[in-house]
Amino acid sequence: MRITMIGTGYVGLVSGACLADFGHEVTCIDKDAAKIALIHDGIMPIWEPGLEGLVKSNQERGRLHFTTDLAGGVADADAVFIAVGTPARRGDGHADLTFVYAAVRELAKALTRPVVVVTKSTVPVGTGDEIARILAEEGAPAGCCAASNPEFLREGAAIADFKHPDRIIVGAEEERAREVLAQIYRPLFLNKAPLMFTGRRTAELIKYAANAFLATKISFINEIADLCEAVGADVQDVARGIGLDNRIGAKFLHAGPGYGGSCFPKDTLALLKTAEDAGVRQRIVSTVVEVNDARKAEMAERVRDAVGGSLAGKRIALLGLTFKPNTDDMRDSPSIPLAQALIAGGAIVAAFDPVGREQAEPLLPGVEFAANAYAAAIGADALVIVTEWDEFRALDLKRMKATMAGSALIDLRNIYDREAVEAAGLSYRGIGRGVVAKAAQ
Ligand code: UDX
Repeated sequence: MRITMIGTGYVGLVSGACLADFGHEVTCIDKDAAKIALIHDGIMPIWEPGLEGLVKSNQERGRLHFTTDLAGGVADADAVFIAVGTPARRGDGHADLTFVYAAVRELAKALTRPVVVVTKSTVPVGTGDEIARILAEEGAPAGCCAASNPEFLREGAAIADFKHPDRIIVGAEEERAREVLAQIYRPLFLNKAPLMFTGRRTAELIKYAANAFLATKISFINEIADLCEAVGADVQDVARGIGLDNRIGAKFLHAGPGYGGSCFPKDTLALLKTAEDAGVRQRIVSTVVEVNDARKAEMAERVRDAVGGSLAGKRIALLGLTFKPNTDDMRDSPSIPLAQALIAGGAIVAAFDPVGREQAEPLLPGVEFAANAYAAAIGADALVIVTEWDEFRALDLKRMKATMAGSALIDLRNIYDREAVEAAGLSYRGIGRGVVAKAAQ
């Protein structure tokens, strides 16, 4: 199959490289000439494990091409994927479809043969219908059709998620679209990945419903964690105890500082906006958003309590800044409101993140950046584990303690055992670990 990917952001670049790796002929297009030039030089515009090697090997095999020329890039295509950004529109939370529709208009004028136009970007219900309308209005060749094929890629594990998906969702109204997408994903059938065909609007909604449900699991366990702290129970065990029930499942039940990233915050708001426009209440998702926003804002209070009730003049070391490990993405990261609230409370904040510094620095004015976790800890009254990078899981806590001024460790990701931390002379406060806290009091 000959595939064109419009937009070489996170989703476009990962999807394009993986589709080329399946053996398809893939051309990735981006308006940003500087980005395309960087990729030609082997420099990835995003940090994703394994991506650089995957791009390079497929370029070398002649199956993966990058260009700024849309007309040239779509000339021979069987399918054109739209993977441009859909940021939350300022003010109302609606996904901003300006880039999607602009790309479709330009594409419609450039096409010379019937293609399947596939949205990979997360787009509100009805966007596929509008794309089909624009294709017709702009005089795209007869037989062109629109389909929806949402992505379910986690940052940091995107290549594995693309190659070993739980399912592939294809929303299409035309048989031709189903045939072309079945061909494209044929290599995955061999791995028995279920390919599910639905209507176009249904596929669009599946993406939002999936992310809203995962966000719900997280907010649910975060509230249960608060209850655990109050009643002397342990949320890690509660999560395991309920997660072993197959109907519930163990995943996405890690209590923490609240979810962030490029998807959950934006997609939950977009779902609420879609529901509002449709005149349908979504009380659960609405509460999930509220719980998560409040949670992020509350994290600084935990730090304040751990250093004796006042942040003024206290030195706080933040370990990890990105919204999760294995990414440099800072979008909606819990570290941002945390650092801001600590500074507002009069604290001096030092931070270390293994890869996120470049993205984080402009977002965190007033924060001192350290070269490693041990340097961040020098003179600190408290250490706060904000992101569960692997390298923070086995820190030499005695060495940390020796350079600190105080002795508080606040583990917002529950990666340490209280006993190990206390053995190093530090005090421990995790999330939702009430039983042990009571015993230790
Ligand atoms: C998510 C979805 O998983 C993916 O399918 C979708 O297409 C894009 O959005 P991503 O945002 O990359 O992927 O990260 P994910 O691993 O899902 O984590 C999202 C946020 O939830 C992070 O802030 C993470 O720390 C938090 N989280 C996740 C928890 O707090 N607890 C959990 O149990 C799981």
